[in-house]
Amino acid sequence: MNYRHSFHAGNFADLHKHAVLLALLKALRPESRALTVIDTHAGAGIYDLGNDDQARSQEAARGVKALMAGDLPGSFEPLIEAVRAANSWVDDTAKLYPGSPWLIVSALDEDDLYIGCEVQPEVREQLELAMGATSVPTEVRAVDGYEAAGLASADFILIDPPYERRDDYEQAAQAVVAAQALNPEVVVAIWTPLKDLETLDGFLRDLKGKAGGVEILVSEARMRPLHDPMKMNGSAMVVVRPPRGLDNEAHAVAEALVRALGDTGGEARTWRT
Ligand SMILES: C[S@@+](CC[C@H](N)C(=O)[O-])C[C@H]1O[C@@H](n2cnc3c(N)ncnc32)[C@H](O)[C@@H]1O
Repeated sequence: MNYRHSFHAGNFADLHKHAVLLALLKALRPESRALTVIDTHAGAGIYDLGNDDQARSQEAARGVKALMAGDLPGSFEPLIEAVRAANSWVDDTAKLYPGSPWLIVSALDEDDLYIGCEVQPEVREQLELAMGATSVPTEVRAVDGYEAAGLASADFILIDPPYERRDDYEQAAQAVVAAQALNPEVVVAIWTPLKDLETLDGFLRDLKGKAGGVEILVSEARMRPLHDPMKMNGSAMVVVRPPRGLDNEAHAVAEALVRALGDTGGEARTWRT
């Protein structure tokens, strides 16, 4: 596998995914019972934006750093607060960028359980280190994240693959079915790149068919019109069994992101199917 998330950490897609993720976790939190969360493709947990990968990609410079340099939209406050907290012991406001494990754990407490799956050994080592300091119970697993979704009953699952495999969309839909078999009320968020609409529509049709017609919320941040399907033109968060009230917060996030960092013709769309 060639994928290295350290090239992309803190880019517009991470900003969209992570701000919606925090809104989702807040909406789930009123549940009085303990939560089990599975992060099927966890990554390193925290990323150094001063490393060589970022010097080459400049994705965080055009993403989180650009966002923090402008007028900060209110909908991004929880995420930017988490970025500041992750940097509280370094001499910079955005040297480090927190990934999904860090953000999820920041929204959990000692009765909950976080399970992070990561197949690359060196990334998994970083994840174990990043999870070392939390008082929230965590398990780092060296397993295929799609399979993990069907191995333990979860309340919430984040599926965030690199989309390097042909069958990533199909596997994501199958993972939802496997998770529903263990807990029919499970909430699942799947991040996808937005290149063209055919791919997104095809995935949603497959997911809706496999997941038994369950309600789905789609939050799209189109950073530019979707004219060139070879480019990542935007980011989408697809939420199965979305909590009530998530729509407005997800829309505010996507709209603010497009306004702050998008090109002419970019737009936010939020809808349920
Ligand atoms: C997009 S990154 C994850 C980013 C992370 N979710 C975040 O938001 O900070 C995808 C990660 O999944 C890992 N990965 C790829 N295939 C996997 C699989 N089948 N199971 C578990 N992890 C996988 C990659 O090594 C990479 O670190």
